Amino acid sequence: MSEIVRFSVSLEDDLLEKFDRFCREEQFATRSEAVRQLIRDTLTRRAWQSEEQDVAGTLTLVYDHHRPQLRDQLMELQHDNTDMVVSTLHAHLEHDLCLEVIVLRGQAGRLQEIASKLRGLKGIFKGELVMASARGE
Ligand code: NI
Repeated sequence: MSEIVRFSVSLEDDLLEKFDRFCREEQFATRSEAVRQLIRDTLTRRAWQSEEQDVAGTLTLVYDHHRPQLRDQLMELQHDNTDMVVSTLHAHLEHDLCLEVIVLRGQAGRLQEIASKLRGLKGIFKGELVMASARGE
């Protein structure tokens, strides 16, 4: 377990006001919680510049279930990458609309490549990838 270190930050009062509003709206328990998360997000984003970084992510897809071949292509891509695909959650939204959340884990470069292939298939209405460092840093 890491040791907690305190440090002080100087900033303009109007910026602090905006930050406090942000903390309230995002329901952070304390300013420290908010700062911690913002620092982690920023560092994680930076780490993706290194393609070898071990990351985990979710790819959320909303797609037309009646598109010929789309379901097969989605399935095939996932079966071809079983070392990266951890789990899949499927929800039937409407008669012809499906939502799928695919949990991925592996090297950042490959993960983004697979996510792009999945997201780019014809018939996908929405695709959003959220990545996080898979190491507690
Ligand atoms: Ni469905």
